[in-house]
Amino acid sequence: MLEIRNLHATVADKPILKGLSLTIQAGEVHAIMGPNGAGKSTLGYTLGGRPGYEVTEGSVTFIAPHSVRPELAEGPSLSSPHAPSCGEKSGASTSSARTGHEDSAGIDLLSLEPHERAAMGLFLGFQYPVEIPGVSFVQFLRESLNAQRKGRGEEPLSGGEFLKLAREKAALLKLDMDMLKRPVNVGFSGGEKKRAEMVQMGILDPKLAVLDETDSGLDIDALRVVGEGINAVMRRADKAVLLITHYQRLLDYVKPDFVHVLAGGRIVRSGGPELALELEEHGYEAVAG
Ligand SMILES: Nc1ncnc2c1ncn2[C@@H]1O[C@H](COP(=O)(O)OP(=O)(O)OP(=O)(O)O)[C@@H](O)[C@H]1O
Ligand SMILES: [Mg+2]
Repeated sequence: MLEIRNLHATVADKPILKGLSLTIQAGEVHAIMGPNGAGKSTLGYTLGGRPGYEVTEGSVTFIAPHSVRPELAEGPSLSSPHAPSCGEKSGASTSSARTGHEDSAGIDLLSLEPHERAAMGLFLGFQYPVEIPGVSFVQFLRESLNAQRKGRGEEPLSGGEFLKLAREKAALLKLDMDMLKRPVNVGFSGGEKKRAEMVQMGILDPKLAVLDETDSGLDIDALRVVGEGINAVMRRADKAVLLITHYQRLLDYVKPDFVHVLAGGRIVRSGGPELALELEEHGYEAVAG
């Protein structure tokens, strides 16, 4: 699903990611934990293609079985401002897409624009969701979904079809539909923002979700609802999740297959779910030192 190799990235000319490697297979949930300032959000933003996050070395290959338009996989038609080493990898691995095989196609993620990454099935849940005054949440969600559908060569959903989908996902996350009639995140409580973001994820139905501290600000009941929502939307054989979190609590609901410690811009330790418990008990210094 995602192969990150030796990723180096800078923000405002400051090196933050320093040789991060991580492989996520379809069907897996990975958790990333790590001290404040380690580069966890930077990893999310870099994968999403946020302006200002510059990749200086390494490659990221995205593999989405059955869901990729071959033309997206054809590197030369897209600008590639990143490391030339990415080109070799994607050139070799995209041949199966061009020949129309049903099997996986590897795409150089870093060569794509943020909206192309989203259309391909990448979803980023933000640590700090943004407010957009003047745009209602329903309108925002419908525009986002239809823009992504267009990017994949699919027909837009009609107003009626979209509302049915939105109601279904809001019910799953126990979010009142009235909340979605308000401007995006404006005046939402911390927990409401996170819950609304999960409704957004349900509607967009991504292949790979990178969720940055989705558990922060949630009350005890909301934590369970959001955890179950993540499982309902993402726990599929053809999907994967990268959960960034500081605490075990979300992992009680969304059980990770792998837990990694990110420190100093690299993965310094990986293990199974027990690693999260060990970290919580002993702290990063003792466990990943
Ligand atoms: N625009 C920026 N200018 C300068 N430094 C930045 C900028 N954005 C991020 N950084 C720095 O990059 C480092 C990594 O930040 P990042 O947000 O990725 O950490 P994090 O692991 O997500 O931490 P937390 O657990 O607190 O969310 C921090 O030292 C931060 O100050
Ligand atoms: Mg962060």
